[in-house]
Amino acid sequence: MLKRLFHTGYSRMMILLFLLLATAGSLSGQSRKVIDFNRGWWFKLDSSQQYSNGRKGEGWRKLDLPHDWSIEMPFRENSPAGSGAAYLDGGVGWYQKTFKLAQAEQGQRIFIAFEGVYENSEVWINGHFLGKRPNGYIGFEYELSPYLYWDGRENLLSVKVNNKNQPNSRFYSGSGIYRDVKLISRNPVSIGTNSTFIRAGQLSEKRAVVDLSLEIEHNLEESKKITLLTAILSAQGAVIASKRTTLSAVKAGLHSIAQQIVLENPVLWDIENPYQYTAKIKLIVDGRVVDEQLTKFGLRNFSFDQQQGFILNGRQLKIRGVCLHSDLGALGMAFNTSAALRQLRIMKAMGVNGIRTSHNPAAPAFLDLCDSLGFVVMSETFDVWKGHKNPYDYHLYWDEWYKRDFVDHVKRDRNHPSLFIWCLGNEAQEQWHSKADGTAIPIALAAIVDSLDGTRPTTIANNELSKANPVLMSSAVDLIGYNYNHKKWASFPQDHPGKKFIVTESTSALESRGTYDLVPYDSSRMWPERWDIPFSGGNEDRNISAYDNVFTPWGSNHQTSLRLMERYDHIAGMYVWTGFDYLGEPTPYTWPARSSYFGIVDLAGFPKDVYYLYQSVWTEKPVLHVLPHWNWKQGDRVDIVVYFNQADRVELYLNGKKIGEQSKDPGRYDLVFKAVEFEPGEIEVISFQGGKKLLSKTIRTAAKAHRIQLSSENVTFNSANKELSFVHAYIVDEFGTIVPDADDKIEFEVEGDGAKILATDNGNTTDLTSFQSALRNAFHGKALAIVRSKNKGKIRVRAKSEGLISGVIQLEAN
Ligand code: GAL
Repeated sequence: MLKRLFHTGYSRMMILLFLLLATAGSLSGQSRKVIDFNRGWWFKLDSSQQYSNGRKGEGWRKLDLPHDWSIEMPFRENSPAGSGAAYLDGGVGWYQKTFKLAQAEQGQRIFIAFEGVYENSEVWINGHFLGKRPNGYIGFEYELSPYLYWDGRENLLSVKVNNKNQPNSRFYSGSGIYRDVKLISRNPVSIGTNSTFIRAGQLSEKRAVVDLSLEIEHNLEESKKITLLTAILSAQGAVIASKRTTLSAVKAGLHSIAQQIVLENPVLWDIENPYQYTAKIKLIVDGRVVDEQLTKFGLRNFSFDQQQGFILNGRQLKIRGVCLHSDLGALGMAFNTSAALRQLRIMKAMGVNGIRTSHNPAAPAFLDLCDSLGFVVMSETFDVWKGHKNPYDYHLYWDEWYKRDFVDHVKRDRNHPSLFIWCLGNEAQEQWHSKADGTAIPIALAAIVDSLDGTRPTTIANNELSKANPVLMSSAVDLIGYNYNHKKWASFPQDHPGKKFIVTESTSALESRGTYDLVPYDSSRMWPERWDIPFSGGNEDRNISAYDNVFTPWGSNHQTSLRLMERYDHIAGMYVWTGFDYLGEPTPYTWPARSSYFGIVDLAGFPKDVYYLYQSVWTEKPVLHVLPHWNWKQGDRVDIVVYFNQADRVELYLNGKKIGEQSKDPGRYDLVFKAVEFEPGEIEVISFQGGKKLLSKTIRTAAKAHRIQLSSENVTFNSANKELSFVHAYIVDEFGTIVPDADDKIEFEVEGDGAKILATDNGNTTDLTSFQSALRNAFHGKALAIVRSKNKGKIRVRAKSEGLISGVIQLEAN
């Protein structure tokens, strides 16, 4: 019924009213309602006026959240945000929303909950100031009830977002209310926000003792008898255990309550079988359910070990992780679950089993995805402590806010089974001074983890490895974390006897998808030469060769760090910088380069060659990947590189003629056929195991661009869940071979009720066309269109380009 109402175009306000009325009962009889509050906001960019109590003047527009206004701005070379934030401006934005409440709702406690607002938000309800929150990544809520109208008058929620002072971040942060907003109606007797904590007190194959605790907020005058009734549901939804605990004569105030629930033959959460239970928690007062909450959790045994690294459920497991920033490429920071799921699926298919949420709390739904897909998450809270990295960054708020922000982060995320490590900070400035803060801050943060969690280790990401670094040497944390410094990984047990080790960040190699410089494969280039010397070299078009031989002086190429990590058991794992390219930090370049080169996958989601290097080492999937393309000038001498697995020998043919064969070098993950003289036609590579042919791969010289070929990662997609369809456009010749240097301008069009091209991209770090544009040049033969639909139905996407046959694809929104 509800679904139908949404789809018949009923006014949203009516639906909200309906939702609020539907379960309205007597004062203490109503249970929790969580209402999606993303729709129908007004927005205005304006730093000169206050709009805390009304929408005056021109220039307001209507939009739905999540929203990032910076991603809509033009790239500007002199943007104060600088290269770190992708040359996209911040500013001051105002958001407003009006809503009515039913009389019957009066007596409930009403809260507004924001999952992330960048940054310095201030919130008013009906002109009454509720509070501010400088931190742009942590969720927060305010109680609205004392200031609400219940008599049919409109309530006005007003939010000021101040991201004006720039630069305030080393990477793209976006601006605005970029994560979900919820309106929560709670009974005066209800469970405190993020107070629920579920963990395994004891865990064996036969039996788990689950410790559950939460806080009851009792806001009624009379004392009450309160019952906590918990049912544990299996992943299939069957009740497998339950517990009832009653407190009699509970007075108004805050009350902690705990339960122990025994589960027989528990199913463990693992990366291969991410099994989750659900605790269905009810509070019962006077025979009525006054609150009900579903909290997922997982049971797993794990430890970190000096010799064996990481052990999960009794088996040694290398954490093969990547760092991910929170932006979603062309969508900016505006969170979308399907875009995050897409990223994680692409990572999973590469063999990644760990994610580091660098360098800030992730969206709650992102962690839900990690729970259900099976990743080992290292959750990070801060890129900056008290010492600054940028003039307006978080150091300004540290003293006043760090405790609150960190407590809220730990409480918000401690039930996620995918979360294994708390990373307290990244490359904090405190590393470099032998000051008291370098000792005191880790102690203070680790103490918060111990008091609120106590089930997971802490670490800190250090790039300064001298023993004068008080942060590195702090005994407050459980794992020593190195960023980079791969030459010191082998000697860790001697350098830090008795300590446990994780590589919190590695590699920082550089490449542009589809770009190859004809320099010897086994040469290497360090760009920039030193971190503190501005870079003046590089390629004129600001691209970087994808042969995995260009990297930063603090990092290495992919192969080097990967080999070391796999080789030493004492390394629990590593998180490669980065899984995906991200907005900002276009090291080693500056303008017009506006996004990173570090990604194993480009900003548009197209894998670079090294993706297959990892896939060949980290998965059981048979891999045979050949680079580069085969469109060169007659006589060019080209190194042909092969990433492969499960084979002991590879043969190479050029136009049917055998050029060579090579056996696997046990000391390497790749092999190279050096200086093969180009002639047009085709290269064929065949892998063999024990004399038996395993796989073959052919790369052809493309003729001239002929048509656009469209495909979608998800031809059918769920519009009600705001799922997006990711449409690939390839420029191909008349035989269907992708033209490797094609950069034709493509115009995307969409037909279908409620359908829209939300964004386009191509993975080119120097493309200054707005991501909202439906016009996009191909980059090395490829482009991406992201399609959304507000309604169900058939959608037709067309891609046109002058001189080429158009591509068409039909999608289905359901
Ligand atoms: C690291 C830093 C990352 C990123 C990276 C680029 O030192 O932690 O945020 O800047 O360098 O190589």
